[in-house]
Amino acid sequence: MTSLISVSDDLTFALSNSHFSYVFRVSPEGILEHLHYGGPLSDPLKVARHHRRTLRHVASTFQGGKYYSLSDTPQEYPSFGTSDYRFPAVHGRNADGNTIFSLHYVKHRIVQTKPKIKNLPSARGGDSETLIITLQDKLHRLRVELNYTVWKDHGVISRSVRFKNLSDKEIQLQHAFSSALDLPAGEYEIQHFHGTWAREFNEERTPVPHGRFVADSARGTSSAAHNPYVAVLQKGTTESYGRCYGTTLVYSGNFAIHVERGEFEDVRVLAGINPFNFHWRLKPGKGFSTPEALHAYSGEGLRGLSHHWHDFIREKITPERFKGMPRPTYLNTWEAAYFDVDENKVLELADKANDIGVDMLVLDDGWFEGRQDDTSSLGDWRADKTRFPSGIPDLAAKVKAKGLKFGIWFEPEMVNPRSQLFENHPDWILHVPGRVSSLGRNQLTLDLSRTEVQDYLFDEIDAVLSCGDIDYVKWDMNRNMTEVGSAALPRNRQRETSHRYILGLYKLLDRLVEKHPNVLFENCASGGNRFDLGMLSYMPQGWISDMCDPIGRLSIVGGASYLFPLDVMAAYIGPSPNHQNGRVSSIRTRFMAGAFCSARGVSLSEAEINSHESEIVEYMRFAKETADDMIGGGFDRVKNTGNEIAWQYTTADENTVYLAYFHILSAPNLPFRRTRLVGLDPNAKYKLDDGQSEIYSGDMLMESGMPMPQVGTGEKVPHVRYMPDGDFSSHIFVFRKVTG
Ligand code: GLA
Repeated sequence: MTSLISVSDDLTFALSNSHFSYVFRVSPEGILEHLHYGGPLSDPLKVARHHRRTLRHVASTFQGGKYYSLSDTPQEYPSFGTSDYRFPAVHGRNADGNTIFSLHYVKHRIVQTKPKIKNLPSARGGDSETLIITLQDKLHRLRVELNYTVWKDHGVISRSVRFKNLSDKEIQLQHAFSSALDLPAGEYEIQHFHGTWAREFNEERTPVPHGRFVADSARGTSSAAHNPYVAVLQKGTTESYGRCYGTTLVYSGNFAIHVERGEFEDVRVLAGINPFNFHWRLKPGKGFSTPEALHAYSGEGLRGLSHHWHDFIREKITPERFKGMPRPTYLNTWEAAYFDVDENKVLELADKANDIGVDMLVLDDGWFEGRQDDTSSLGDWRADKTRFPSGIPDLAAKVKAKGLKFGIWFEPEMVNPRSQLFENHPDWILHVPGRVSSLGRNQLTLDLSRTEVQDYLFDEIDAVLSCGDIDYVKWDMNRNMTEVGSAALPRNRQRETSHRYILGLYKLLDRLVEKHPNVLFENCASGGNRFDLGMLSYMPQGWISDMCDPIGRLSIVGGASYLFPLDVMAAYIGPSPNHQNGRVSSIRTRFMAGAFCSARGVSLSEAEINSHESEIVEYMRFAKETADDMIGGGFDRVKNTGNEIAWQYTTADENTVYLAYFHILSAPNLPFRRTRLVGLDPNAKYKLDDGQSEIYSGDMLMESGMPMPQVGTGEKVPHVRYMPDGDFSSHIFVFRKVTG
């Protein structure tokens, strides 16, 4: 492997591969100055400095340097108080009450094996190099190690920071961002994703304002309100044009991504733990590690950026043992029966699962002691004896005897006040003494920072997984945290609780996935309230939203696809009228909105299954037949006019291309429309798999485009495809490359 990191004698550092170059240097004053992040440079160590030293009126100059102000200097890890007034990456207080930090270069080293981050998940190394730069604040005696990893084949760079207190007094960290990225002056836009329950991943584009834009969470989870993903885009960026810089975190708790446009038009991106309501006491000799931040760069618009992320998440984030593994199709009991489940009902649904040809039966909420509705029993993870008299292992065996896999739901991090667990351990919840604990969905949050809580949950879940033959676990988490405080932490460490909670969660997950490596865990938090790369490090797929209406789901899947590959998404055909927004839609469109997700299934009552059985059988057959294809391929958003959406999915071997077309509201006498495909082999021929043996060339499909079906009923005209549903129509084309 040619070297990915080069260093010059005068301490310029270049991290480069065929996708990008990232360059910075040590200034004569010992400050790390950022020089370039963008397309690959043939001689990156020779990059010209964007900034020159100049006289700035009003700006303060840095510690005696005449023409040197940190206010206009792009930096790698800025601090506050020595001539830079923008938001700093690190901030804190020493024992004397001093809050000014100044970090200077000490030394660096390059390692071939990517170091793990203590107690936190992080991207896997391999074909990578890591640069570790040591900085130090001489006065506070705080050592700061910046870690940068670059991979040979990925357009992604990772960053994290390790602090160590070398002094003999305590230092309090108040900001400890994982990464700072200072981009040169220019016209940029922000792309970010906001939402709420059942309306996750709404894309918003906004010019980078003067001042500061913040996407963050103080809810204890990374949250649906702002997903921890922000991209800074060259103004006017489209799917195929523009320089794009994406930033995300391998973290599931309170995060912040700041984008600040300074007085000299430069743009600073900070990513890490949310500094609001955080601090960490660093005792003498102790260390603290930040979560990992990831940046991706594309010079060719959002399509290129998404492809970098998709490849990276598949290769370096989701558990390796599930890589390339086709996902089972399933029937989930939730929208089929809600809490009205018992052994007979589950076995009947298992028969239905067999009738419609899916691989797995998933028993969702409602199976444990006393759980009749959402007012009780979370925490008591033993089967309800009245409804499941022979227990879960026996039920799993009966379901498996029918030739199905078996999956089960847990919401481990929660407890209802009406539960045995709460009666026995009222102090095990997050709470603040003297304050009433706010409920969310009638439940309280367990204090996962406590070892005894982690141990209890490990034992309870392990007991269920060890006794029965269980293939899959849906790990749910259905409320945001309030009154966050821990009975196990001293008064002056209470603001560490949220981060310690996440460390505890990761520790619990580490133990469970190590003990049960073959169980497929699916991440859920009322849908997408904690859909992030931290959770994906343990769970290769997630329930992205409780919104199963296909039109609602289109924008959720489409929005999430800017960062996440559809390999990590689960989707099912839910009821119509939809239980979240009341919309009536066809089985076909309900399936199509999730057709390119890796995990597909059904959650319908027996009555609804019976009345659409042949159609459901057809789509579940399609899901099974395409299970291999929907892992590892390329996803592209090829059309979005608001009323029309088209997505392309190209299999990893590039031999099959799927094109899904959605027409939302119908109208009469519409124009003829076409959709241009992307990334095909222009010289190849593609045969349409619809029994009509039409053959198209790759260049024709990309340059001229594929004619889209008309919405309509009534008399049909030869050679025109129709979508008969009226509103909320969909159509799928399957193209197979003609070989030989
Ligand atoms: C959450 C999940 C649903 C379902 C219910 C069960 O809302 O997102 O899919 O599992 O909990 O209570």
